[in-house]
Amino acid sequence: MASYLLLLGLLAITSSVVVASDQSPLQDFCVADTVSPVIVNGRPCKDPKLVQASDFSLSGLHLPRDTSNIFGSNVTLITAAEIPGLNTLSISMARVDYAPGGLNRPHYHPRATELFTVLEGTIEAGFVTSNPDNRFVTKVLQKGDVFVFPVGLIHFQRNIGHGNAVAMSGLSSQNPGIVTIANAVFGSKPDLPTDVLVKAFQVDRNVIKDLQMKF
Ligand code: GLV
Ligand code: MN
Repeated sequence: MASYLLLLGLLAITSSVVVASDQSPLQDFCVADTVSPVIVNGRPCKDPKLVQASDFSLSGLHLPRDTSNIFGSNVTLITAAEIPGLNTLSISMARVDYAPGGLNRPHYHPRATELFTVLEGTIEAGFVTSNPDNRFVTKVLQKGDVFVFPVGLIHFQRNIGHGNAVAMSGLSSQNPGIVTIANAVFGSKPDLPTDVLVKAFQVDRNVIKDLQMKF
């Protein structure tokens, strides 16, 4: 009985430590104190008496972003680092700009589901489900269409229209994180062992070496 209780206690402790989503707030707000040396999950709270409207605000999100890069896209992620008032509130956002043909490369958010809305243009969007199905769920989206990318699933978007495209996303974490698949697999620092990738992808060593050079 004692060991059963001990096991239950251990389970309770470890499950509260490994919880991946943002914690529920215990007060109206906890504006991030960006200068505190204290390291916690998120940021410590600024004295509520010193909090101002500017802690909850940001300007300029209407401005088009520069998409003149090889992928033809630009993600502007707005997290608690940009709006301190988002600290502990489990939410953030992104503006994504696409040149014609522009691609927001396959990536996933380790801590957030994404709710994606097309504001301008025509976007092909999709995600892939986990093993064993690895089903590709995809849709062509027009202005005003919304699409959900569930937490942790690999997804991408590309502009298949003739003009520029713009989208706005809500993300269910104050710090969703972005793992870009190509960069993580072929551009890790230091490199993953080449023979690991040769075996995993079942291709020639030169192909892997080439990809590792690129990223
Ligand atoms: C940003 O992360 C996006 O997928 O649009
Ligand atoms: Mn995303």
